[in-house]
Amino acid sequence: MEHLKDKVIYQLYPKSFNDTNGDGIGDIRGIIEKLDYLEQLGIDMIWMNPIFVSPQKDNGYDITDYYQIDPMFGTMEELEELIQKAKEKNIELMFDMVLNHTSITHEWFQRALAGEKKYQDFYIIRPAKEDGSLPTNWESKFGGPAWEPFGDTGEYYLHLYDVTQADLNWRNPEVRKELYKIVNFWLEKGMTGFRFDVLNVIGKDEVLVDSTGDNEKSLYTDTPIVHEWVQEMNRESFGAHENIITVGEMSSTTVENGILYSDPARNELSMIFSFHHLKVDYENGEKWTDVPFDFLALKQILDEWQAGMQKGNGWNALFWNNHDQPRANSRFGDPEKYPYETATMLAQTIHLLRGTPYIYQGEEIGMTNPDFNDISEYVDVESHNAYESLRLAGKTHEEAMTIIKQKSRDTSRIPMQWDSSLNAGFTTGTPWLKVADNSSHINVEKELAEGRIFPYYQQLIRLRKEMPIIADGSYEGILLDDPEVFAYVREKEDEKLLVLSHFYGTDYAFTLPEEFTTAEAKWLVGNYEEVPLTTEMTLRPYETVAFLLE
Ligand code: GLC
Ligand code: CA
Repeated sequence: MEHLKDKVIYQLYPKSFNDTNGDGIGDIRGIIEKLDYLEQLGIDMIWMNPIFVSPQKDNGYDITDYYQIDPMFGTMEELEELIQKAKEKNIELMFDMVLNHTSITHEWFQRALAGEKKYQDFYIIRPAKEDGSLPTNWESKFGGPAWEPFGDTGEYYLHLYDVTQADLNWRNPEVRKELYKIVNFWLEKGMTGFRFDVLNVIGKDEVLVDSTGDNEKSLYTDTPIVHEWVQEMNRESFGAHENIITVGEMSSTTVENGILYSDPARNELSMIFSFHHLKVDYENGEKWTDVPFDFLALKQILDEWQAGMQKGNGWNALFWNNHDQPRANSRFGDPEKYPYETATMLAQTIHLLRGTPYIYQGEEIGMTNPDFNDISEYVDVESHNAYESLRLAGKTHEEAMTIIKQKSRDTSRIPMQWDSSLNAGFTTGTPWLKVADNSSHINVEKELAEGRIFPYYQQLIRLRKEMPIIADGSYEGILLDDPEVFAYVREKEDEKLLVLSHFYGTDYAFTLPEEFTTAEAKWLVGNYEEVPLTTEMTLRPYETVAFLLE
C-alpha cells in the first residue's frame, strides 16, 4: 500500500470530457488529446467512468458487453493507444467495473429470458408472493419497486437500480468466475486500477425478506459474505499483480466495514468511497430536498471516518465531487462571490487529510452547478424520476426545479469547460448535455492563462509527493465544536501539520489551543497571503491555511 499514499487520482467522465468527432459525445481520442493537460496538473492515475457497450440508460453503468468499447467512445485500438501514451507520461488508468448488475440487453440476460436455465441462475429471479404481490417490498434506488416482471414467466427479476439494470446472482460461482475473468481481461490490457461500482450490495441472501421500511438497506448492504467474495476476487484477479490500485464504491457503509474492506492485511481493496459526508444537505436523510448544509455534521462525519479508519488501518478515498454528486463549490461555498477562495479551501481541506485524494474533472478550474431551468435540459434517469415524484408530492414546477438544480447528477455531468467558445470547446457539434452558461468565464484556457485555482491544485499535488507528513502522517481532529472552522493536525515523527479551513463568507475570529501557538510555526500553504500563527486567529472568507510546527 506504500505505493498508494502519495498518489492523486483524476476522475474523468468520458462522455463529457472532450469530443473530437463532433457527435456531441466525448471520446477516447479526446482523452488522448488532453493527456498533456493532465500531466501538467500532476495527477498519477485517471479513473474513467464506464465506456463499455451499453444502451446508456444509466450512462454506461448498464453494460451489454464488458469486453468491448462502445463505438460512440472509439475503438479498442484507441484505448490501447491511450494506455500506451498515458504510460509514457507516467499516468496510470483505472477502469470502472460494474459487477453488481448488467444491462438487460446483456447476452446473459437475453439467454435467460429465452429460457436457458443456466443463465436464469445468473440473475436474482423470484416468484410473486402467494397473494400475487411482488417478491419483496424493496424499492429501487432510482425510485419505484425493485422488481420487474421477468418476461412472461410470471416471475420477477431484482433491480436495485434502473429497471434495465438486473442484479447479478453472486451466489452462483459461475457468475463470479465470469466477473473475475472480465477483471483479468482488463488487467492484461494494462489497466492498473479498478473502481468497483456499488460493490457492497452484491451480497444478497438466498431467501429475500420484506423490509420494515428503515432496515431495507441492511438487508442487502455489507453482508458478511461480501468480504469473502472481495477476497476471492482479489485472489483470482488483481491481487496476483503488483501495485494495482482498487477502490470500492460503498453505498451506506460503516467505518467498521470500511476497515474490513481496506485494511491491507485483509487483501480486499486499497480503499473505499463512502458518502455520509455528502448527505449533510439532505433533510431527514432525503436527497431531493432544499436545506442548507449542516457544517457540524460534516465535520463530525469526516472526523469519524478519518480517526476510525486510521485506528483500524483502513484507507479512505478523499473526495468532494464525482459524477453522482452536485458540485461541492455550489454546495459548500460561494462560487459567485468567492470562486477562488471556495475552490481552493475545499481542495486543501481534503488534500491534506489522510487518504487518497480524487479530483473530478473541472474541479481544478472551479466549475460549478449549471443553471438549467427546465427538466427537459436534464438527461439523467434519476433526475427525471425525482422531478415526477416531487410534482406528484404537490411541489410546483419552480419548487421542484430549485431542488433538481441543486441535486441532479447532471450538475456535474455537464461538458468540461475548455474555452470560451460556443459549447466551451467541448464539441463542434451539439453536446449530449447542455454546456453551462458560465463557461464563458470559467474555462481551462482562461484558468491556465490567469487563474489561481489550477496552480493551487498543482501545488497540493506536489506537496503530497514532497511531504511524508501529508502522505503518511497520523490524523487528529481539533476544534470539533467550532461552528465555522474545520481544523485538524497531521503528525509524523517530530513534525506537526496544522490545517485550518473556514467554511463561511465573512471574517471569523476564534481561539486556538495554546499547544499550537507555543511551537515554532512555519506557514506552509494558504489561499490568502502569508499570515502568522497566533492564539487569537481571524480567518477571512473561505480562507484555508496550513502551518508546519516543530
Ligand atoms: C454507482 C454509480 C452510478 C450508477 C450506480 C448504478 O452509484 O456511480 O452512477 O448509477 O452505481 O450502477
Ligand atoms: Ca465523439
